[in-house]
Amino acid sequence: MTATPVRPPGIAVLGSANMDLVAYVEKAPSRGETVTGQSFRTVAGGKGANQAIAAARAGGAVAMIGAVGDDDFGRRLRAALEGAGVGTERLRTAPGPSGIAQIVVDGEGHNAIVVVPGANGTVTELAPQDEAVIGAAGALLLQLELPLAGVLAGARAARARGVRTVLTPAPVQPLPDELLAVTDLLVPNEHEAAALSGERDPRAAARTLLDAVPEVVVTLGAEGCLHAVRGRELLTLPALTADVVDTTAAGDTFVGALAVALGEGRATADALRWATAASALSVELPGASTSMPDRAAIDARAS
Ligand code: ADP
Ligand code: NA
Repeated sequence: MTATPVRPPGIAVLGSANMDLVAYVEKAPSRGETVTGQSFRTVAGGKGANQAIAAARAGGAVAMIGAVGDDDFGRRLRAALEGAGVGTERLRTAPGPSGIAQIVVDGEGHNAIVVVPGANGTVTELAPQDEAVIGAAGALLLQLELPLAGVLAGARAARARGVRTVLTPAPVQPLPDELLAVTDLLVPNEHEAAALSGERDPRAAARTLLDAVPEVVVTLGAEGCLHAVRGRELLTLPALTADVVDTTAAGDTFVGALAVALGEGRATADALRWATAASALSVELPGASTSMPDRAAIDARAS
């Protein structure tokens, strides 16, 4: 008899799927101005889809909960998730357009972004089947590109079932106490940490955020990350050297890989190092969902 391999507990992602519409220009247009760009491409994105794809590529068993529109973008978003191995049974198709992000990248690599939520905006409550998927997972990944009511419903469903909640507070906005109360791990970047805590220094920000949640990881871009748990010393971890091409979704890659490593029961320091390796690899390739490394590549970079 062949033993069934032990499958790590799965990861549920309750979040956004957007089609990224990316125009590359020398200089971004100002009000009333028209400029001619160099190139244009469309690529699957949205923080939810990015984290789901990152976790699946890192080896996680991932289910995405959310909504796409009944348009061509919706079909492509679903296909991109499925192509990465993400389960889309609980990704609804809502009447109307998919979410989009209109992104202008200038010659210095800076970007300006408009997000139109589209179908993402319909995710204001969960179906019993969504709650069942969350209940069967080891962790629920959340961001703030869905309506707050939907995010809160997911976090509460997870908490009620003893499932760990991991919240990326982006786009950053004031977090209601009722959401913080059901957040196990908060993963802001340094700008989000500063905005949420009122503290410019990331260490001070992390300590302040520990008043509201039990565990915080602040990502620091090329400086790495820091990890804070109530009652323990802060741990800092440097980034791994990378040939930076495009830092889009570095944070989402980090969170996806971190969830996989923690779900496998790895110690926090080890899991953070693995996530650091994954995100270093992601900045070396253009794009978001197209630049997420697989498990073998992460292992090689982490060793
Ligand atoms: P976000 O994409 O959410 O703004 P960060 O910029 O903080 O998040 O990046 C997340 C992680 O990606 C960092 O903790 C780091 O490990 C990795 N990373 C980001 N930028 C670089 C870089 N220039 N070189 C190496 N690693 C990077
Ligand atoms: Na990238």
